[in-house]
Amino acid sequence: MRLSVIGCGYLGAVHAAAMASIGHEVVGIDVDQRKIDSLSQGKAPFFEPGLQEILTEGIASGRLRFTTDLAEAKGAKVHFVGVGTPQQKDGYAADLTYVNAAIDGLLPYLSEGDIVAGKSTVPVGTAAGLAPRVSETGATLIWNPEFLREGWAVQDTVDPDRLVIGIPDADDEQLVQVVKDVYHPAIAKGTPFIVTDYATAELVKVAANAFLATKISFINAMAEIAEVTGADVTQLADAIGHDARIGRRFLGAGIGFGGGCLPKDIRAFSARAEELGRGESVNFLREVDAINLRRRDRAAQLVVDAFGGSVFKKNITVLGAAFKPHSDDIRDSPALDVAIKLRGLGAWVTVTDPEALENAERLHPQLNYVADRDEALRGADAVIVVTEWDEYRRQLDPEHAASLAEGRIIVDGRNCLDAPAWRAAGWTYYGMGRP
Ligand code: UDX
Repeated sequence: MRLSVIGCGYLGAVHAAAMASIGHEVVGIDVDQRKIDSLSQGKAPFFEPGLQEILTEGIASGRLRFTTDLAEAKGAKVHFVGVGTPQQKDGYAADLTYVNAAIDGLLPYLSEGDIVAGKSTVPVGTAAGLAPRVSETGATLIWNPEFLREGWAVQDTVDPDRLVIGIPDADDEQLVQVVKDVYHPAIAKGTPFIVTDYATAELVKVAANAFLATKISFINAMAEIAEVTGADVTQLADAIGHDARIGRRFLGAGIGFGGGCLPKDIRAFSARAEELGRGESVNFLREVDAINLRRRDRAAQLVVDAFGGSVFKKNITVLGAAFKPHSDDIRDSPALDVAIKLRGLGAWVTVTDPEALENAERLHPQLNYVADRDEALRGADAVIVVTEWDEYRRQLDPEHAASLAEGRIIVDGRNCLDAPAWRAAGWTYYGMGRP
């Protein structure tokens, strides 16, 4: 099938390449010439495992190309819109400038029977607002939210947990069949396929992210209680996680969530609920956000306390900059936030990360960046792990780290280290919500 994908960021670039990898003929379109140049040369503009391979394959096969010219969307049967919906500069609501621009720009190139499939995360009610403009061209707007996780984006696109589409007419079997044809490998595998209305499809996405954020902040709230009672939040999470109704996943207490989705999505959800006169229904999301942000202060405070009250002129090595492993994304990264807080308290901060250093340095030039992990550890008075890369979690031997560092303070901002092993190597270990 011929497909167009408007917006070639984390979502769109992966979607375009993944759709080509399952046999479709795809044109990816973005206004950013540099991004398009990079993608056209088969180079992923960001780190995402597996993307490079399917990009190269797709371009070599002739099924995948990239352009800045929206006119090249003409002729595609389905047009995916995967542009960003960032937080507004002066508030919590989502900024829909790019969604509106993409839809309006696309209108002249739509033909009778085309499908415009919105993938961006939008406030509930957006699709209903956009639909009349699309209908005038004879095309149909559907909403097809995306649930991909960075680091697993290719896998999540080709083999998702579920597919959701919001459509204007639930009996439109022909339209449903076209969407099934697009996602044919997942459909053949029996992936749950939910056909619903616009509002439900839009809400499914924000509800999923709100739930995940709440789960993380719940366990971080328990970490706060553990800190004043001597309890161990990781054991607590293991124990409650055995209850199948609760489950252990997303109960990792630490410095909390960040990234391009969860923080902005819960804020946009709160803002939208306010607009709808139902602000009180999701008031708890404000608390979820507040708990989450407190954990960053707590991590910095642990380092301060470890030095008996001041980190002034102490050499602190920060292991991690990305908001999570397997990503070079530093948007709202709790890891970098902790590094910046420590710098603000007068410490000499050295940051290292396997993938995110370039992005971090561009945005926060005030920190010292060292690419080599061991070089970064040399002479450290304290070490703090803020992104649980395997390079720190599994591959960093505490004895080896001790041979490089000056001090023996290790703060585990992700509760990901083998505490007894670090203690045995002479380190004073501090976890998040652990004795
Ligand atoms: C998230 C959703 O998972 C995905 O479905 C949606 O499409 C986009 O938003 P992503 O932002 O890639 O995906 O990251 P995710 O893996 O969900 O992690 C979010 C943050 O939560 C990270 O900063 C991570 O470190 C943190 N986290 C995750 C915890 O602090 N504890 C946990 O137990 C799990």
